[in-house]
Amino acid sequence: MRRADDRHLASGDETWWRDAAFYQVYVRSFADASGDGVGDLEGVRSRLGYLELLGVDALWLTPFFRSPMVDHGYDISDPRDVDPLFGDLDVFDRLLADAHQRGLRIIIDLVPNHTSNQHEWFQAAVATPPGSPERARYIFRDGCGFGGSQPPNNWTSTFGGPAWSQLRSSTGDAGQWYLHLFAPEQPDLNWENPEVVADLERTLRFWLDRGVDGFRIDVAHGMAKPAGLPDMPQPIATGSGLLQIDIADPRFDADGVHDIHRMIRKVLDEYPARVAVGEIWVSDDLAFARYVRPDELHIGFNFRLLEATFEADRVREAIEHSLMAVQGSPAPATWTISNHDAVRPVTRYGGGEAGLKRARAMTLVELALPGPVYLYNGDELGLPNAELPDWALQDPVWRRSGFTHRGREGCRVPLPWEGGTPPYGFSPTPGTWLPMPPDWADYAVEAQLEDPGSTLSLCRQALELRKGHNAFTGSELEWFGAPPGCLAFRRKAGGLICGLNTSSTAVSLPPGEVLLASGPLPPNGEALPPDTAVWLV
Ligand code: NOJ
Repeated sequence: MRRADDRHLASGDETWWRDAAFYQVYVRSFADASGDGVGDLEGVRSRLGYLELLGVDALWLTPFFRSPMVDHGYDISDPRDVDPLFGDLDVFDRLLADAHQRGLRIIIDLVPNHTSNQHEWFQAAVATPPGSPERARYIFRDGCGFGGSQPPNNWTSTFGGPAWSQLRSSTGDAGQWYLHLFAPEQPDLNWENPEVVADLERTLRFWLDRGVDGFRIDVAHGMAKPAGLPDMPQPIATGSGLLQIDIADPRFDADGVHDIHRMIRKVLDEYPARVAVGEIWVSDDLAFARYVRPDELHIGFNFRLLEATFEADRVREAIEHSLMAVQGSPAPATWTISNHDAVRPVTRYGGGEAGLKRARAMTLVELALPGPVYLYNGDELGLPNAELPDWALQDPVWRRSGFTHRGREGCRVPLPWEGGTPPYGFSPTPGTWLPMPPDWADYAVEAQLEDPGSTLSLCRQALELRKGHNAFTGSELEWFGAPPGCLAFRRKAGGLICGLNTSSTAVSLPPGEVLLASGPLPPNGEALPPDTAVWLV
């Protein structure tokens, strides 16, 4: 096995992640080197120079493991191998080594809640009778009602429909049901089974030994299930339900999940300078805080800013809650306004020119905050969600919602790199896995790189200042009074002031020297226009 050379990184700062700028690479859509229309690891490697230029510190790679791709890689059939669609282990090792050479760290997805139904464990489970050790790795139950024809409880899948599927019995009696909180092709593992725990430890060590800098843990509030699998109080009408997890929902946030995170942390602590960040969809600050106790996750994904509408009060509330949730824990708050499951910020904030202005403003707000930040690939180009034709939709959410929720693919369209027509340098073939809009030429990296007013230039400048300017030091914020529809905060130690105007009229700027603004300021420099954010010192 080729070991990634990470000497210069691993010997450095143990807690590099505390204020790192992470860049999420949705591997399918970043860059395609093989020419099959789907992004791959060699494609990522070929664009590392761009990421260095952008000024991020670390990459989060979405799943590239062996998978039938029902949920685009979040259905894993072998977590310790690379799917041929994306390359192989040698390409991965080269990517990691090259990234490290450039000072970029790499964290990878870990999907411990479920496997693919094509995983050899699940294949063995369906081939053996109820009660077998093979079935005990998943959550199988007999059905309820006459002949066991009803699911064991009322849980729904976050992708729509019931969270249970029934196996066909070869002997004519009722087949057992198995649990899948996502698609039926993603059976949930039974985390009470020590074999499941041991296998995850093997996976962790497999990638840590190769030199990865850490993990993004998928559904980190899932995995453990409450004893007796009690009914949900009220089945939630699902569809794009990822964002709809309630505190009283027994499917998630069971107490046992914390033992799993302690196990993961113990393993990570054996390796220097590694990090685990959990995808935690819990709406309660105290519940969130439990995930980032000193012996659990280093950091937790915090979706409050992503969920906030473009209104100063909502944004302030999101920031205050996020800081409160980690008060007293060693973890910094984390910030993001986007990922591969959410509508792109430009579209979410209203679309068109106004949506773009607001997304740029919110990027400055995000990057002004203390702690790690996550940027989703393509947001630095100001990409909107793409309108896709029905035939192109592949997300299981589309089918499972009875074709009522279009799913998450609008934010997953391949990135435009150069040129005036699809595939804009993303791939040698025009047959990209999702069609690319014909009017994306102006969004291409090449078109934005030298334009000082472009969104790409704004992000580059912001990332550079955030990393190099001493106004960004310190972890505490103080709030200033601000006109209605506006907010202003100051980084206490460094002195950076960030102002945001979400109202429809210009307001006067707080005093100070302007470091950066998300849009043009009037020539006298004294007013902050609507839909604009500014950094001052
Ligand atoms: C969360 C991931 O972000 C999402 O893309 C995936 O579909 C689910 N977990 C299931 O793994």
